Amino acid sequence: MEKTFTVLKPDTVKAGSTGAIIGRLEKEGFRIRAMKMLHLTETQAQGFYYVHRERPFFGSLVKFMTEGPAVLMVLEAENAIEKLRKAMGATDPAKAEEGTIRKRFGTNIERNAIHGSDGPDTAAFEISYFFSQLEIVG
Ligand code: RTP
Ligand code: MG
Repeated sequence: MEKTFTVLKPDTVKAGSTGAIIGRLEKEGFRIRAMKMLHLTETQAQGFYYVHRERPFFGSLVKFMTEGPAVLMVLEAENAIEKLRKAMGATDPAKAEEGTIRKRFGTNIERNAIHGSDGPDTAAFEISYFFSQLEIVG
C-alpha cells in the first residue's frame, strides 16, 4: 500500500463539490488516512508550491490557493500516487480525459479543482508539510 497527498483546492470548496470528489475517491478505492480543512496563508502556499517559485504563474497560483479554505487529505491505495494522478486528469481541464476529476470539476489550467503528489519524494514532503504522524491513521 502507498500513501499520497491531495488538496481539494479553494475552487472546489467554494463550489460545494468536496463531498462529490471525496465520494468518488472512496468509490475508486482510496482510503482516507488523514483529513483537515485549512485556509492557507501566503507563506504556507508558497512553501507548498516552492518548486514552482520561478514560474510565471507562481504569484497567481499562491493567490488562488489562499483565496479560501481547502481540504487536505492523506490517501492510501495500491499505487496511490499514480492512481490519483490518473483519476485527476491533465493539469488543464480542457485537455483532461473524459471522466477525470479535473474534466468534471476544473475551470481552467489554474482553477483545476484538485492537487495530487507527483512522486514518492513529493508525497512524503507534502504529507509531512501538513500532517504530523499523530494525525495520520493506520
Ligand atoms: P498539482 O501540483 O496542483 O497537482 O498540479 P499539476 O502537477 O498537474 O501541475 P503543476 O505543473 O505542478 O502546477 C501546479 C499548479 O499550478 C497551477 N498552474 N497554473 N497558469 C498556468 O499556466 C498554470 N500552470 C499550472 C495549477 O493550479 C496547477 O495545478
Ligand atoms: Mg504538481
